Amino acid sequence: MSTHRKRELRTRLIHPPRHARVATGDIVDPIHMTTTFERAADGGYPGGFHYTRDGNPNCRGLETCLADIEHGKSAAVFASGTAATMAVFQALPTGSHVLAAIDAYHGTLRQLRTLVPRLGIEVEFADAADGAGFADRIRPATRLLWVETPSNPLLKICDIRALASAAERHGALLACDNTFATPVLQNPLRHGANLVVHSATKYLGGHSDVTAGAVITREDDATWQRIRAYQSGAGAILPPFECWLLLRSLRTLACRVEAQSATAQAVAQFLAADPRVRATYYPGLADSAESAIARRQMASGGAMISFCVASRKAAMEVAAATELFTRATSLGGVESLIEHRASIEGPDTRTPQELLRLSIGLEHRDDLIADLDQALAAAD
Ligand SMILES: Cc1ncc(COP(=O)(O)O)c(C=O)c1O
Repeated sequence: MSTHRKRELRTRLIHPPRHARVATGDIVDPIHMTTTFERAADGGYPGGFHYTRDGNPNCRGLETCLADIEHGKSAAVFASGTAATMAVFQALPTGSHVLAAIDAYHGTLRQLRTLVPRLGIEVEFADAADGAGFADRIRPATRLLWVETPSNPLLKICDIRALASAAERHGALLACDNTFATPVLQNPLRHGANLVVHSATKYLGGHSDVTAGAVITREDDATWQRIRAYQSGAGAILPPFECWLLLRSLRTLACRVEAQSATAQAVAQFLAADPRVRATYYPGLADSAESAIARRQMASGGAMISFCVASRKAAMEVAAATELFTRATSLGGVESLIEHRASIEGPDTRTPQELLRLSIGLEHRDDLIADLDQALAAAD
């Protein structure tokens, strides 16, 4: 690859570094469905791999591509976003204090409440959108700040650069869940974060057919070595077929996300202007302090929108009346989804009962807006 100039993201997604060019000249790498690799007569491993749990060409190819597109040093892929998140907490020393954003994916919050304290780690939650207030809670024992921006499902924004500086001043790390923004719209490592986490199940996979996760690091430091050691020691890997599927999907990541985000902007504007909608949460909308931060660190508002209607009953009726939006959890696929978040999050949810979350797919914007219009009318 040319060393003169870093190529654009779209190009790098189509031409990721390849590790195992095959003699037949395949344009697409084959799937290396092998658990083990032959040793040479001298006992060495000429291909650089010895056992798939510790590395496989498909896995290596995917990790190299993810590190490249997030502007990181290295990446590690896992069997889900949840497993990737846990790997970060597993790498912290016992006695650590973790300061976590209270606005985050409810599964991450549950992990932080139930599993992480069992590692001898103290967890404290606060509002990361209030940057100074959040940073004020950093203590001598704080090893990690955990944020998600935009957050699931309220699309709250926090200032990655400001929090990265605060973490650094106190000798802590900043980890950012970049699932909603994707590397196409936001690169937290370039804003000073130390670690990025993805639920690759969402936009990176993009077709609602792969469950996977990833951690990407800015530095090959001691924390990264512990994440890698945990991945190998706990057997927390992503199998070759899933790695291959993800690399295939990544080729279209930029085109998909840019188109989905442009459609979401139009849908959010429609919702924000509609009197049947009480509130619309979308980073590309309001002229608030948060949207100024979003404009600084994101290329556009992304493809996730949440909105509130008059009541829980009305929300259920809207979700029941959509024809193009499928009622299902998850996000980031080519098909649009609608979800009543509070009922999937359960009794400890902080999400308003009258809130619906949309994952905008690749359908035409006019059809999506017409579908929401008729569903809002049906619930009126
Ligand atoms: C922002 C965010 N992070 C992490 C996860 C967990 O990912 P997975 O479902 O792949 O375990 C999700 C899942 O919805 C999510 O929305």
